Amino acid sequence: MKRVLSGIQPSGKIHLGNYLGAIRQHLQMQDKFECFYFIADLHALTTIRDAKLMRENTLNLALDYLAFGLDPKKTVFFKQSDIPEHSELAWIFDCITPMGLLERAHAWKDAQAKGKKDLTVGLFNYPALMAADILIYKPQLVPVGQDQKQHVEISRDIALTFNKHFGKTFPLPEPLIKEEVATVRGTDGTNKMSKSYNNTIDIFSDEKTLEKQIMSIVTDSTPVEKPKDPVRCTIFHLYKYFASPAECKTLEKKYRAAGMGYGEAKKILLAKLLEYFGPSRKKRIELQKNLSYVNDILKNGANRAKEVAIKTMDEVRRKIGTRQTGI
Ligand code: ADP
Ligand code: TRP
Repeated sequence: MKRVLSGIQPSGKIHLGNYLGAIRQHLQMQDKFECFYFIADLHALTTIRDAKLMRENTLNLALDYLAFGLDPKKTVFFKQSDIPEHSELAWIFDCITPMGLLERAHAWKDAQAKGKKDLTVGLFNYPALMAADILIYKPQLVPVGQDQKQHVEISRDIALTFNKHFGKTFPLPEPLIKEEVATVRGTDGTNKMSKSYNNTIDIFSDEKTLEKQIMSIVTDSTPVEKPKDPVRCTIFHLYKYFASPAECKTLEKKYRAAGMGYGEAKKILLAKLLEYFGPSRKKRIELQKNLSYVNDILKNGANRAKEVAIKTMDEVRRKIGTRQTGI
């Protein structure tokens, strides 16, 4: 059985882009693969400097995954910081990774281009920790959104460099990106949906907030009485991910015929999202009443992940010579 690994940062509320680009795929893979999924709290430390917020976000993300249907019996689900071996391996990778490789990373270049003031070593180093997250479990597949593809490629480069210096240790992981959801558009109608653009539709928000976010979707100015182009419309773009082909056809017809305003299309989208996510929204409320159960799942997951991580680190320490052999 192939091994799959992925992580997601506890950096805020889960939105449609996160769900379609990452989480949905993660969950679909549970039945066919041996899955390791973790909450990348150490990566989130590049932006979060508030212990309470870190704790809240981490717990919320665990709740989200479980509400969406993560099955802790099938999947190893844990918190990155519970496995300090990730950080140890990241340092080892730091020592063999050329600066130039990390300087070319989009996330780093973007941060620089935006003139961010508090650029940190952690942000620069982000892909080395991510390489450690991945390689320590020797997975074959890493399902991520398009924006993370380069990071997985950097992991492959680092694996190759390590293998070259110290002998074959790490298999090369493949990024797995679903094309049709490669980039989910945000409510501003131009940028990808992202917390950093403030253009998200947050799945577990209360109904009022959800409605407000959907109503804020930017559309063109075609008046109600004129036909509209579904292909370019962000409402339709989002609707398509959740509606059946027949439902899409119906909405498409309404667009092409005159007489439907964007306000009505937004209401149709809201109803669809509430229907689609209804069971998960309900389940999350139940889980919230039993947080010790959620914490136990993470603890259990960490124990299972640790077994693999310890084994890899034992091999790595022997290969690099920080562990004496034969003693
Ligand atoms: P954000 O951009 O809101 O900060 P993250 O960077 O934390 O979101 O993304 C978490 C996961 O969700 C990543 O695997 C990423 O590729 C995926 N993802 C985020 N936004 C989108 C999007 N608009 N379309 C597709 N996938 C996305
Ligand atoms: N960088 C990823 C993101 O922002 C999260 C992440 C950290 C990750 N480590 C990983 C994803 C390892 C896949 C594999 O979405």
